[in-house]
Amino acid sequence: MTQLSAAQTTPSDGSKALYGGKGTRRITVRDIALAKERGEKWPMLTAYDAMTASVFDEAGIPVMLVGDSAGNCHLGYETTVPVTLDEMTVLSAAVVRGTKRALIVGDLPFGSYQEGPVQALRSATRLVKEAGVGAVKLEGGERSHEQIRLLVESGIPVMAHIGLTPQSVNAMGYRVQGRGEEAAAQLLRDAKAVQDAGAFAVVLELVPAELAAEVTRVLHIPTVGIGAGPETDAQVLVWTDMMGLTGGRVPKFVKKYADLREVMGNAARAFAEDVVGGTFPLEEHSVH
Ligand code: KIV
Repeated sequence: MTQLSAAQTTPSDGSKALYGGKGTRRITVRDIALAKERGEKWPMLTAYDAMTASVFDEAGIPVMLVGDSAGNCHLGYETTVPVTLDEMTVLSAAVVRGTKRALIVGDLPFGSYQEGPVQALRSATRLVKEAGVGAVKLEGGERSHEQIRLLVESGIPVMAHIGLTPQSVNAMGYRVQGRGEEAAAQLLRDAKAVQDAGAFAVVLELVPAELAAEVTRVLHIPTVGIGAGPETDAQVLVWTDMMGLTGGRVPKFVKKYADLREVMGNAARAFAEDVVGGTFPLEEHSVH
């Protein structure tokens, strides 16, 4: 039988679109692959708890990452390095419970896969079995290809992550990656290595826009950009950054879509003043 391409099987009304489509079942990595064939762009947000994830799910965000950015954005650590697999399992399970449609990707934290493929499989299996994620993410290109291969062969979809890899902050700092000929060539090698190992998508973090565009053209799996310019197939942002909840400085590539820190601070102060001033609770908030 002749294999039909995505363009031939997708109704022109966009009903299969990852964002804005009419499907209500959980999105799978196959849906992600078909979106690349259709040339469709899609959004991804991080999420660390059930309630926030349910808001994003209802808004139609098709893919959510339970990122180890939970370390600095949710758990109060300075970096992602201290985050444990136990913590990621609890947070990932909450996000899965809070969602019906989004593909949930659970991050493998630092120390849970660097020893080798067998350790990676043991860790990823926990996120799949105990938390119910549909895929896992891990950092590293060529250096992680054996881990990716074993996970994929074992039936666990893998999102790779190259460019700036925050788990290596102690070795590489927070610097743009892939600048200069040799670094760009290495990034391309990393991208091809994770694709060849079977990753279904690859995050490109803090990479020059032109290089990210080239990687996106060369790969048949989707690229997910963060600080990687407009040409990647998908874009991801850390939710607390783009909603204006993160305190202090956020990276230049973040667009702020709301100011939750101000909204929540104002609401907390208004509540406190009502309590201190005796204007809350009123009769309407009281039971008799
Ligand atoms: O942990 C995370 O949130 C991430 C994204 C920045 C891609 O890895």
